[in-house]
Amino acid sequence: MRIGCVKEIKKHEYRVGLTPQCAAAYMARGHKVTVQAGAGEGAGFDDSQYAAAGAAIEPDPKKIFAQSDMIIKVKEPQEEEYELLREGQILFTYLHLAADEAQTRALLARKVIAVAYETIQLENGDLPCLKPMSEIAGRLSIQEGAKYLERPFGGRGVLLSGVPGVPKGKVVILGGGTVGINAARIAAGFGADTTVLDINAGRLAYIDDIFHGAVSTLYSTEGNLKTVLKDCDLLVGAVLIPGARTPRLVKREHLSLMKRHSVLVDVAVDQGGCIETTRPTTHDDPVYEIDGVIHYCVANMPGAVALTSTIALSSTTLPYGLAIADKGVEAACKANADLKRGLNTYRGKCTYKDIASVFGLEYTNPDTLL
Ligand SMILES: NC(=O)c1ccc[n+]([C@@H]2O[C@H](COP(=O)([O-])OP(=O)(O)OC[C@H]3O[C@@H](n4cnc5c(N)ncnc54)[C@H](O)[C@@H]3O)[C@@H](O)[C@H]2O)c1
Repeated sequence: MRIGCVKEIKKHEYRVGLTPQCAAAYMARGHKVTVQAGAGEGAGFDDSQYAAAGAAIEPDPKKIFAQSDMIIKVKEPQEEEYELLREGQILFTYLHLAADEAQTRALLARKVIAVAYETIQLENGDLPCLKPMSEIAGRLSIQEGAKYLERPFGGRGVLLSGVPGVPKGKVVILGGGTVGINAARIAAGFGADTTVLDINAGRLAYIDDIFHGAVSTLYSTEGNLKTVLKDCDLLVGAVLIPGARTPRLVKREHLSLMKRHSVLVDVAVDQGGCIETTRPTTHDDPVYEIDGVIHYCVANMPGAVALTSTIALSSTTLPYGLAIADKGVEAACKANADLKRGLNTYRGKCTYKDIASVFGLEYTNPDTLL
């Protein structure tokens, strides 16, 4: 198969769909890979690394779209890329179509075979190609929070670890899923006094177990939340209710309970946020202050660590991409139900039920097409 990897043109997107190593993995199976000149720059990979791996380097993205059987990207195609997509071409990337009617209709009109990273789903409900981004955002939340706690960045001047004779900083993590547990791991590693709140008793027991007491757990109730907010230096929002808007658990009036120039990082901002005063920010201008509390609410946190994110993303998507390249999308989806759940559009048909119902489109069961 001819595989093309183009440079991301969405603002503040530094990741790239393929690392040189992953490009080499496709080529080792007999596929031809073309990478746009400069595509890997933002993530720290230069053209010579792709060329050394055996990929062709092409400066013109139009040529890559025109000649490739499968395009491997990170973000959804931008409007100016729609017309470059061809009938029957496989598009393998994050799409988030349920939130983007124009793009859904464009992919259907162009008769593209679109496989979305975020809807590839294991039998147990896990989303393997989304998980690494949650792991990264969780870990990064503490790194960013620690930075904004520093006085020159507007924070109250607290070192999370404390020092002998001086108390540790207090970190409160709301939600103990993938983001929360990864945040807890870094916070505890810093030596901070760390508490995770969740409504899932099993999750709290698991956290209690794996951290051997280095992380405290609390049921997520308004009373418990108000108690821990009073003492907290860094609050991390990491709540998710699948398929629903995130509940706003921290209300504006709760901010006045918090210490002046404490910091909150609402990682759940991409689903609306679990803090009432959250609004999305960008890496350009990541923080704002309300009622004396510094808010960090960047909606695409992994973009800040583009090298780590690119390696994590391209490694998790690789087995699925290789299956598509080796067998063709039809046989690969037939053989793997997890991958089949990733199929969003197929030659003009919408093959993902939830997306079809959001936009009143006709749903076609992929089994009837493959
Ligand atoms: N900003 C970013 O760059 C970025 C990156 C990755 C993920 N995210 C977002 O982070 C959020 C968390 O993702 P995740 O992968 O950890 O989800 P997850 O499903 O693994 O975890 C969510 C947790 O929230 C808990 N929860 C639900 N209701 C709660 C409540 N009332 N109080 C406390 N906990 C509650 C659940 O029990 C679960 O443990 C999502 O909104 C996700 O989209 C953002």
